[in-house]
Amino acid sequence: MGQQVTHDVIILGAGLAGLRAAVELSMRTSGKVDIGMVSKVQLMRAHSVCAEGGTAAVMRPEEGDSLELHAWDTVKGADFLADQDVVERFVRKSPDEIRLMEHWGTPWSRREDGRIMQRPFGGHSFPRACMAADKTGFFEMQALYDQLLRYQTFKRYEECFVTSLIIHNGRFAGLTALDLPSGEFITLRAKALLIATGGLGTLYGFTTYSQTVTGDGQAIAYRAGLGLEDPEFLQFHPTGLVPSGILMTEGCRGEGGTLVNNKGDRFMEKYAPKMMELAPRDIVSRSEMTEIIEGRGFEGPDGLDYINLDLTHLGADRINKRLPLIREVCMKFLGLDPILKPIPIRPVAHYSMGGIEADINGLTKVENIWTAGEVACHSLHGANRLGCNSTAECIVWGGITGEEIAKYLAKPPALGDCPESRVKDEEKRIFSDLLQKSGSENPYHIRKELRALMDKHAGVYRTGESMKEGLERVRGLQQRFTKISVQDKGKVYNSNLMNALETENLLDLAEALLMAALAREESRGGHSRRDFTARNDEKWLKHTLAYYNDGKPKLEYKPVTITIWKPVERKY
Ligand code: FUM
Repeated sequence: MGQQVTHDVIILGAGLAGLRAAVELSMRTSGKVDIGMVSKVQLMRAHSVCAEGGTAAVMRPEEGDSLELHAWDTVKGADFLADQDVVERFVRKSPDEIRLMEHWGTPWSRREDGRIMQRPFGGHSFPRACMAADKTGFFEMQALYDQLLRYQTFKRYEECFVTSLIIHNGRFAGLTALDLPSGEFITLRAKALLIATGGLGTLYGFTTYSQTVTGDGQAIAYRAGLGLEDPEFLQFHPTGLVPSGILMTEGCRGEGGTLVNNKGDRFMEKYAPKMMELAPRDIVSRSEMTEIIEGRGFEGPDGLDYINLDLTHLGADRINKRLPLIREVCMKFLGLDPILKPIPIRPVAHYSMGGIEADINGLTKVENIWTAGEVACHSLHGANRLGCNSTAECIVWGGITGEEIAKYLAKPPALGDCPESRVKDEEKRIFSDLLQKSGSENPYHIRKELRALMDKHAGVYRTGESMKEGLERVRGLQQRFTKISVQDKGKVYNSNLMNALETENLLDLAEALLMAALAREESRGGHSRRDFTARNDEKWLKHTLAYYNDGKPKLEYKPVTITIWKPVERKY
């Protein structure tokens, strides 16, 4: 058995949510907490650095915004599947978080009067996205990391790939992991665990996510017995750059950018006459797909037909000041200057509304495991998240879970037992079984096929028939996965082994997503079915829970918390 390390708390994932939680814990314990920060990449390489457009908060009640309005926009945007008590807490806490980020040095863009600049974002009825040009996540991460460095509270485990979560006697017992640079197998134990590992977007081929985002946190929690809530709700962002998928921030449309088809029409007029390009993402993505399917798109490479995102009327000054990253990316990746020419875009896999089931405090069903950020499902986003509510969610629930864990540690709790046999079984699974595989199947091909099939069978528009075929194909890939070969048999930075582990995670998550989507016979938010086109509140105003049961997902359901707003038709 490899090395064992012990801390007060392990924070798994070092993006916005993980860093924010670590800062809160450090502050609340006056720096007397011992944190293990575990990340599969180097610290500050988490995908949160790619967040672009802004962070939602009500900062100007005197100019007409209000907490009620933000809450209503979020609930309506969510197609009424959000838990309204969670939404209320979120909108109340978000402005405080922005002020904290301000004190901690986030270099916000400013208005003439010196106040934080806020731009319009989709589905929000007030300009609410606090912005640092179009690099908001990057600057927020810097500010949080700087804060954390003030405290000598954490030991870093970078390039450390976690392979399993051990829960024993109903408590967190440990994580098993591969230290990638050395290849050593380690066990990480603590009195409390926060899972903040981000999303699962590379489940799809055409995606805004970094290649490192493979749903590892969701997968280890799911296999350890925690529920995945609402996994069928996957968000497609309306503006992924063709052909790479790189995010063209909603801020482009917030600044006045328009969407134009091959007839030169601003087609959003037909679909959302009031909010136009700034309708919620599910609606804009469906509208774009309809235009493309009906022949009003532009022919793109590899079947990636597209729509034009036109910024040319904004002028060089506005683009250079407010969208510098967008311009840089377009020039570097396409040789196209958006000051002069429209940008080719189409809907792209961007965000998972579902995640590990957690209560309003981010606590899972296990008494000493919390979760925050995209990996979690606190039921804030329901069936469709509004843009700029995600970075806000990360810092709000990073703060909340940091506080909750600090309170828990003050008790103080004992370290949970971690049975040696469970660690040995996992070590055997990795080194004696998986690593030794020398079958005929190539795991890289399996992963590529999986991502293509998710694009095809679980996209913006879905049908039962197509999802059923997708599910069968996923199960076929799971079978083939048992016959893979891991070519590199060595220890040091074995990226072949890591790829196999990630692919295994993605396969399990694809199965859960497709099963939950197939079962939900209605259209709601990001889940839009051609064979069940209407929302069905009578049967489906409920959350899905997917549990790992003998290697297969088992579905259960639970009610939505409605405190104020009963579902009505969404019009924009
Ligand atoms: O478009 C964007 O900048 C993305 C923001 C978000 O997903 O919240």
